[in-house]
Amino acid sequence: MTTTTEIQFNNEAQQKVKEILLQYPADKSKSALLPLLHLAQAEFDGWLSVPVMDYVASILAIKPIEVYEVATFYSMFNLKPVGKYLIEVCQTSSCWMCGAEDIIQYLEQKIGVPAGQISADGMFQIKKVECLGSCGTAPMFQIGDKYYENLTLEKIDAILENLKNENKRSRYV
Ligand code: FES
Repeated sequence: MTTTTEIQFNNEAQQKVKEILLQYPADKSKSALLPLLHLAQAEFDGWLSVPVMDYVASILAIKPIEVYEVATFYSMFNLKPVGKYLIEVCQTSSCWMCGAEDIIQYLEQKIGVPAGQISADGMFQIKKVECLGSCGTAPMFQIGDKYYENLTLEKIDAILENLKNENKRSRYV
């Protein structure tokens, strides 16, 4: 079992932690919780395990429960392992009216598992999310930091193909 003591940011991430903490007054370092959770999620395979959240709590010298409260409140934090490419599909009004349900169904068929599950090859996972603030370019989804907008089924084919190729290339680098 993984314990907090085994969890540690690498040197580069530790430098980022320092830079983040410098943005807040020393007696208000708890305000750095959100950026630290984003960093932790990016550094530890795209999700926040309890030991990772405990590690973040130890950095900020706050109680683990204070981290759990925040991490469980925001949908952008993943509390379970995720696929390499987490496809966050907006299903709120504009996207819903522009075919979000069809997009989700199509993605499920393409990756071979229902939303919420990780594809057999570990590469993809669909997550239904609420408005991502890009209503004018609905329907849309987000993968990592990138928004994919004005989606069509053809565009989705191309996006998935590109990601598969990118994954193949990264295995040989
Ligand atoms: Fe989909 Fe706002 S409704 S981005």
